[in-house]
Amino acid sequence: MKHKKIFQISLDAILLSLLIISAQISMKVGLVTFTFQLFTIYLIAFLCDLKHSGIILTCYIIMGLMGLPVFGASQGGLSYVLTSTFGFVYGFYAIILMVSLAKKLSKEHKNLKLIYYTISSLVSLIILYIIGFIHGYLVLNLLNGKGYSLNKLFALFIAPYIPFDLLKIALSLLISERLYPLISKFFLYYHFKSIDSTSTYLKRNYKKLDNLTFVSADYQEAGKGRMGRKWESSSNENLMFSFLIKDAKLIDKYASISLASAVSIFKVLKKLKVSNVSLKWPNDVYVDGKKICGILLESVSENNQISCLIVGIGLNLNVESFPEEIAKKATSYFLETNKKISLSRVKRKVYKELQKSLNEIKKGNSSYLDLANEYNYLKNKEVYAEYLGERVLVKVLNINPDNSLKVLVNNIEKDIFTGEITFHLS
Ligand code: BTN
Repeated sequence: MKHKKIFQISLDAILLSLLIISAQISMKVGLVTFTFQLFTIYLIAFLCDLKHSGIILTCYIIMGLMGLPVFGASQGGLSYVLTSTFGFVYGFYAIILMVSLAKKLSKEHKNLKLIYYTISSLVSLIILYIIGFIHGYLVLNLLNGKGYSLNKLFALFIAPYIPFDLLKIALSLLISERLYPLISKFFLYYHFKSIDSTSTYLKRNYKKLDNLTFVSADYQEAGKGRMGRKWESSSNENLMFSFLIKDAKLIDKYASISLASAVSIFKVLKKLKVSNVSLKWPNDVYVDGKKICGILLESVSENNQISCLIVGIGLNLNVESFPEEIAKKATSYFLETNKKISLSRVKRKVYKELQKSLNEIKKGNSSYLDLANEYNYLKNKEVYAEYLGERVLVKVLNINPDNSLKVLVNNIEKDIFTGEITFHLS
């Protein structure tokens, strides 16, 4: 997407400028020049992925070596390679590598993020000191014949930096923790005027997208419904979006995702003062017996393992009428309230509610089941359904803790899982 690229390039340019500026804020004490570069390097490493941190740092070094005065105390040029402090400049690569490793690890163990970040920061700082020290030793002693002892060099060249460098890392971690959610929000959200299907888009691109990427569209040329049906909607009247689940803990809770998503939509509709909202197991939201929202849960597997889940949601909002064949079965926010509503307002609410509910599921909280049972549209109703290839009359009882549905078929209790039954409601 073009505007994502523009945003990324602008962010890279801002961080590169910040790196140049922070190298100019310097103070020379003996052999040591204190600068703010380290603060910016950690900021870059915390905020950007390895590729972009690498691009920023490489641009910085190339600019400096080409003669632009971007290194410490406005120095530059090829000869800077032979100064005693250049080791610290190329040593910055160790920082971005280590922090990117910590990021990778903390994606899998989110609760250990701070520990991974702290360890990687400290280890990378030590590596930076080693590289800087060796480079300084070679330049000062071998090239310039200064004859400093290792101890003296350490006392002059490394020791004075330590407390300030630790402070810079702490400050950078603190600031990046504030900035990261704002920046990542921009990369997690995609909107298209027209697309084949928001779910298909995620299926095509899931490898390069992050967990909880959210894709919406004004219009879908090939919108998909459950059971291979089409999902049709005129442009910009209804909410159509999909989101991507890559978090292993959530993938494990596969069976809860549809119903919990439906409960999130239920909550938003309640907040929007729609009355008589109910849930139809496993993934529809109804108002007064008509469907207002459908949810399509898909998974992508590789080597017999689920790599991601894609949740597609279609919520009828401003549509004023439905084609005759579905008019009796479908409804919209407008038809229920006689009011039009801003799609982006609902989108924001839905996104928040979904995030909340996914966090709860991850923690093992299943309070969504209580709501789903309380507002189960089919509860205690007798309906015809297609079950095991036969049309049978079933009485719907309740939703079980494992998300299956308890029903009575010929007076025998059965627990039915998603996909095993299709209700014929009219
Ligand atoms: C159902 O059949 O009830 C599920 C309908 C799901 C429709 C949504 S609209 C956004 C997303 N993209 C698709 O192609 N389908 C889902």
